[in-house]
Amino acid sequence: MAQFTPAELQSLKAQYEKAGQSHVFTYFDSLAEPEQNAFFEQLQKIDPARVQKLRELALNPPKEEGQAVVEPLPDSATASIIDSSPEDIQRWYNLGLELIGKGEVAVVLLAGGQGTRLGSKAPKGCFDIKLPSHKTLFQIQAERILKVQELAAKGAADPSKAVIPWFIMTSGPTRGPTERFFKKEKLDELSEEENAFRAKGKPYFGLDPKNVTIFEQGVLPCITNDGKFMLASKGKLAVAPDGNGGLYKALQDEGVLDKMRPNIKHVYAYCVDNCLSKVADPVFIGFAAEKKVKIGTKVVRKRDAQESVGLIISKNGRPDVVEYSEIDDATCQAVDPKQPSILKFRAANIVNHYYSFEYLDGMGDAVNSLPPHVAKKKIPFFDTEKGEAVDPKSPNGIKLEQFVFDNFKWLNLNEFACFEVKREEEFSPLKNADPAKKADGTFEKQPEDSPATSRRHIKEQGRRWVEAVGATVNNGDVDEGLEVSPLTSYSGEGLEAFKGQTIDKATI
Ligand code: UD1
Repeated sequence: MAQFTPAELQSLKAQYEKAGQSHVFTYFDSLAEPEQNAFFEQLQKIDPARVQKLRELALNPPKEEGQAVVEPLPDSATASIIDSSPEDIQRWYNLGLELIGKGEVAVVLLAGGQGTRLGSKAPKGCFDIKLPSHKTLFQIQAERILKVQELAAKGAADPSKAVIPWFIMTSGPTRGPTERFFKKEKLDELSEEENAFRAKGKPYFGLDPKNVTIFEQGVLPCITNDGKFMLASKGKLAVAPDGNGGLYKALQDEGVLDKMRPNIKHVYAYCVDNCLSKVADPVFIGFAAEKKVKIGTKVVRKRDAQESVGLIISKNGRPDVVEYSEIDDATCQAVDPKQPSILKFRAANIVNHYYSFEYLDGMGDAVNSLPPHVAKKKIPFFDTEKGEAVDPKSPNGIKLEQFVFDNFKWLNLNEFACFEVKREEEFSPLKNADPAKKADGTFEKQPEDSPATSRRHIKEQGRRWVEAVGATVNNGDVDEGLEVSPLTSYSGEGLEAFKGQTIDKATI
């Protein structure tokens, strides 16, 4: 049975026609009923006029008046954990834990990316970086939440309130496998060995499933160079996730803000691929809450001019980010006039954000105004003019992606805070695959930001933490490190019992 009335179909066709996209219906009448229903549903979820507006915004961004003045952020909008006083850090930590203890903090995970550079079939969060425990990124993050809840509950007036709801943004390609992974169901995308490790332990990694919400970001049609929506087949639009900036619209559309509204006042957001991410970091939450900013962001010092990271800057007196794919060489290479040995623009964006709930809840229609970025891609499509499927050899269309930081520029500097943290403690992204073996049995050069670097950074951190309390590691580990489970310690606390000991285990 058709799940739409003739009048509904008529009205949908009119919408697409008005936006110059009537060709998407070329084969509609020839489709079998189930395909018609599915196609109708897909088309109905997309607002063609909005997409046209976004394309227009992307291709013809609003002109800025005069010459843009781009500078590093002023000191007033920044703080650094490296030179903050121990008293300040302790105060922020206590405040952050207090807010968590009152149940006012939620965590949002951006996990809709497909990890093309890593080449993993399963979502990145399911990736095993081959720690001694074989914990995946999702498990490490879930256990950090468990630990922070435990730390917050200790000082809370009502410990049962010390719960951090976790909202996981997925996309069309990552939602299904992510849900199955949390339920500990088998994943075809994983190897037998990986599935064996996945099956161990509790579903949701010990978190209460009612506090974990997996939701889905939107999609945008792929568009030909002359502005036509592309078909993937006769009864399906070619679509792609709308970028991590789709977060704001998805928070509204998927009912996440409604779920948060009764209790949540502070939101911590982060990326799935950073194995060192301090999920629900009390220090950062306390810092941003004390400053009463709308948005806060963490940065580390950029490794070198070539590192693929966005830079937090001030543009015409407002906070902004210039993404690595769009930065010009002069800005990349510029050195600090006061300290010529370091880069002028060095505040590398690690996509750990703080939002006041009030800000997110008040975004309203602005979620539709984030100017999308254009990625020119080779997009397989069904050509409605020639009536055949085409697998292009060169870029034939564009995908539109919104970036999660593009609303920073809507704020005044005093509504925004940038917090510098130590790279070795907080940033080790997983972007690239480990090198392949060459025909002669040797390996390609080890890239940065790979499973090997993620694993090493976690183990080096563990070693630093136990050495700081006077323990020694002697476990024969190839990286001379130690894996400290997040259930043992969140950020180096609670390890005093190891003082004076020699640790011979690979993981504690
Ligand atoms: C991103 C940042 C860059 C930063 C770098 C640090 C953006 C646009 N760029 O770059 O400034 O320096 O991380 O590692 O944020 N994601 C979605 N939905 C999507 C696309 C991505 O949820 O449609 C998520 C990914 O799952 C990931 C995060 O967003 O958790 C970042 O995406 P990724 O494509 O890895 O960004 P980078 O190009 O590395």
